[in-house]
Amino acid sequence: MKTEKEIGETIKNLRIEIDRLNSSYYLLSRPLVSDLEFDMKLKELEALEAEYPQFFDPNSPTQRVGSDIGGKFSRAAHKYPMLSLRNTYDFDEVRDFFQKTSRLLKTPFQIVCEPKYDGVSISISYQNGLLTKAVTRGDGAEGDVVTANIRMVKNIPLSVTNSNLPPTFEIRGEILMPVSVFEEINSERAAQGEPLFANPRNAASGAVKLQSTSEIQKRRLEARFYSVLGENLPYDGHLENLMAAKASGFPVSEIIVKSDTIEDLLAAISRLETERKALPVETDGAVIKVNSFAQQKILGATTKAPRWAIAYKFRPERASAKLLSVSYQIGRTGVVTPVANLEPVRLSGTTVKRATLHNADNIEKLDLHAGDILYVEKGGEIIPKIVSVDLSRRTWGSEKICFPKECPDCGSALVREPGEAAFRCPNDAGCPSQIKGRLEHFISRRAMNIDGLGSEKIGRLYESGLVRNVADIYSLTVSDLTALDLWAEKSAVMLIDGIEKSKAAPFGRVLFALGVPEVGETAAKRIVGRFPDIDGLMNASVDQLAAIDEIGAVTAGNIAEFFGRPENRKTVERLISYGLRFTSDSLPEDDSQKKLQGLTFVLSGLFEHHTREKYRDILERDGGRVSSAVSSGVDYLVAGEKAGPAKLKKANELGVKIISEVELLMMFSTPETPVNDFSKN
Ligand code: IVH
Repeated sequence: MKTEKEIGETIKNLRIEIDRLNSSYYLLSRPLVSDLEFDMKLKELEALEAEYPQFFDPNSPTQRVGSDIGGKFSRAAHKYPMLSLRNTYDFDEVRDFFQKTSRLLKTPFQIVCEPKYDGVSISISYQNGLLTKAVTRGDGAEGDVVTANIRMVKNIPLSVTNSNLPPTFEIRGEILMPVSVFEEINSERAAQGEPLFANPRNAASGAVKLQSTSEIQKRRLEARFYSVLGENLPYDGHLENLMAAKASGFPVSEIIVKSDTIEDLLAAISRLETERKALPVETDGAVIKVNSFAQQKILGATTKAPRWAIAYKFRPERASAKLLSVSYQIGRTGVVTPVANLEPVRLSGTTVKRATLHNADNIEKLDLHAGDILYVEKGGEIIPKIVSVDLSRRTWGSEKICFPKECPDCGSALVREPGEAAFRCPNDAGCPSQIKGRLEHFISRRAMNIDGLGSEKIGRLYESGLVRNVADIYSLTVSDLTALDLWAEKSAVMLIDGIEKSKAAPFGRVLFALGVPEVGETAAKRIVGRFPDIDGLMNASVDQLAAIDEIGAVTAGNIAEFFGRPENRKTVERLISYGLRFTSDSLPEDDSQKKLQGLTFVLSGLFEHHTREKYRDILERDGGRVSSAVSSGVDYLVAGEKAGPAKLKKANELGVKIISEVELLMMFSTPETPVNDFSKN
């Protein structure tokens, strides 16, 4: 038995731990544990607090909903609080919920079962049929105003006409990144050496808080709405109002089932657990709601969650697999990533053989030993994750896995920068894995795109000593290749031809191919847009580099450091001598870099901040076009005060986006409009 003091300590520690998990999840969009683990910790704390009320604390995480408020946006209060849902993983608790509801209502009721979407919650207000404001959940009472960002989500109607819904209402739902988009974006990021998103939810929550609307468009987000709120809604039923929203063009939950009995409800949950796998977006449970608003009102809510609803969460699929070995991959920038090689196991429809162990701290946290049986999960994360070790099956005396102190390839002592999770091999000039990684990157499709030279062959060329540096590729001859027994005469001629052709690659691609840490494809294009020749770029200061749109201080520092090194300057000189392109034909202000390039605007009504002429100038400066009439070729109608009703009507009919003056200001490259101007919306 624990003493009261010890219980107090446990409660305190759980609160600290849950607060830490909550801030990482909401503020950094970085979940540290699975939802299941989080929920279990929260439940443990709830149970202890219920048993030992003397430890009550209004600041306990059990008394609050998590907060996503980040400080970059203006805030708005929710007219109706955005509550959480009670979670359960257990059919018996669903039965209890049903019985309790029945006891409290004393009249027959209907219950709806729908998917619990795993995205970012949003509450959107429509006034007189127009989308006016979108606010994140925040702390439930107030959230961040992200209207301009939400307008970039394709399947959200910007206006509603001919609807059963009243002119003014609020609608709530989740913003999601479809799994297919998540996979596509991640593989592009991998190809560019950019950090990967952990899961679609993180990718979506990061996007909702971005400051660049064009960047948000690229994330191809979608919405699903699950609740309509307002004063004069047409129906008493949640489902019926949702169907009215659907008829008005809102994307609503894909699978919704209304039941009268607990048996039907449990069957609906089971069916959803299977059918959800075919949905394009991720779901992590079922939400069960009493359908009638009148009955919901009778049941009421606590400060945290309604009594008329509960979430049944699906357990992530889990399997156990034996650890065969741990290998260490050394990337082209020297980062050492441990990978677990597993005895193959089936999990959620795929065979898993390998799983990342992330870093040294994670190996330590798992307390991994050779031959351990590991639990592997495919939950929110698409990449299988090792959640824990089955300690009951550990072989006595098995050896603890220790992260190496030296580079497994070149033997250099590994280093870890303060505040970084990764160990790196510092021997960038001599470590074979790093050099091979850089060579592979250089020839890859998105970089120099040298046909006929895959990662295996470039490895062999490196080992033969013929290619030690990217510039060596350009001094290869047909006889060099045929002498290696890897190429026949004909394919050697073709490869040399491919190498020759690669010299035509534009400067941006060459810069990307050089593999400066953090300089992906897009960054490289921006950099050459500003510095159209290599001399200018090599001599640019960190400040000049950091002034380039979307290039941060870290990347700027990396570029300056890269070109500061004599060996890299020498490589560049050699590449120039072989005829690679180190100048860009486009003017420094490359048109394709202009923010509003290709977009057509119509300006209507009176504006508060600038005259219409001034707006025309700024729009054109940023590459936009201004038209006087609304047609299907128009992208945005900017509606000032007293905007022409005919123009608004036409824009609505044609599906042209209607934006406010403040939102227009937000779209300009410079000057940055203060974000809190949003409050005027
Ligand atoms: S109804 C009073 N329905 O889950 C709460 N929420 O854990 C009413 N969510 O903040 C919410 N899918 O962001 C509801 N079909 C669904 C949902 C759903 C996902 C999210 C929502 C909410 C959170 C609560």
